[in-house]
Amino acid sequence: MNVASQIDDCRAIRRTLASPVGFVPTMGAIHDGHLALVRRARAESASVVVSIFVNPAQFGPGEDYGRYPRDLDADLSRLEVEDVDMVFAPPADTLYPPGFDTWVEVRGLSDRLEGAARPGHFRGVATVIVKLLHIVQPDRAYFGQKDAQQTILARRLVEDLDIPVEPVIVPTVREPDGLAMSSRNAYLTLPERRAATALHRSLRAAEDCWRGGERRVDALRRAAEDVLSREPLVRTEYVCVASADRLETLETVDRPAFLLVAARIGRTRLIDNLPLSPEG
Ligand code: PAJ
Repeated sequence: MNVASQIDDCRAIRRTLASPVGFVPTMGAIHDGHLALVRRARAESASVVVSIFVNPAQFGPGEDYGRYPRDLDADLSRLEVEDVDMVFAPPADTLYPPGFDTWVEVRGLSDRLEGAARPGHFRGVATVIVKLLHIVQPDRAYFGQKDAQQTILARRLVEDLDIPVEPVIVPTVREPDGLAMSSRNAYLTLPERRAATALHRSLRAAEDCWRGGERRVDALRRAAEDVLSREPLVRTEYVCVASADRLETLETVDRPAFLLVAARIGRTRLIDNLPLSPEG
């Protein structure tokens, strides 16, 4: 497995890789959710590239950039086992050298939900995704459904900027009790970890209503909110149903949509979502 920390080295190794190249951008602290993307890429590609970069531009002031879990050696060991061809793990000032002043903004989408809660977050995500795609030049790029708004953003920007890459969305990987895997789960204390299952339970409650034929957004939201409000350690930030293509809020689920939840548990902010497709 090749490991590159500089852009020139990454490009040089990239030129030696067989096509098609599958690319998995990550911020490291590799867990089984990331590995689902890597395995899908491995199954569909001749070569697999993974990036590990805790992107300062997508963290707001007071967010967890400083304490975000970093363990490059452990990450490399996990990726080696998966037969990854190259890991690109640049230092922050390699992607953002002094004088860096160009930003990518996906308008509208970036201001809602996660964007409203985390101003500037999606500008940082969009910018780093474009930079990484330019550096790695993959045929396909893999994103997790867990970050629903990020998947929509990635699709939008490759289409709008004519980037010759196919985004592939991989279903959310969960712990046995339903909690969506996330590098941030490591922040949770034991009582918080127990309470965190409320996010998944809230989605399940809404899904039960959905399977019973409910299509009114108010009723679906209420089912989810009831579960979250019964958990004292959980502070709900939003429960929302929005269209799957542009994340526009809906009153009735008459087209593919997501039910999205965000909540704070202690100092940790968690998100989860449930895809809803009117066809069943
Ligand atoms: P990170 O949180 O490290 O996640 C990297 C990729 O793994 C994302 O596409 C994310 O959606 C996916 N992922 C995380 N947990 C998952 C789970 N439980 N199941 C399935 N997929 C999961 O998302 C980012 O990094 C960054 O914003 C990034 C795209 C790398 C840009 O900096």
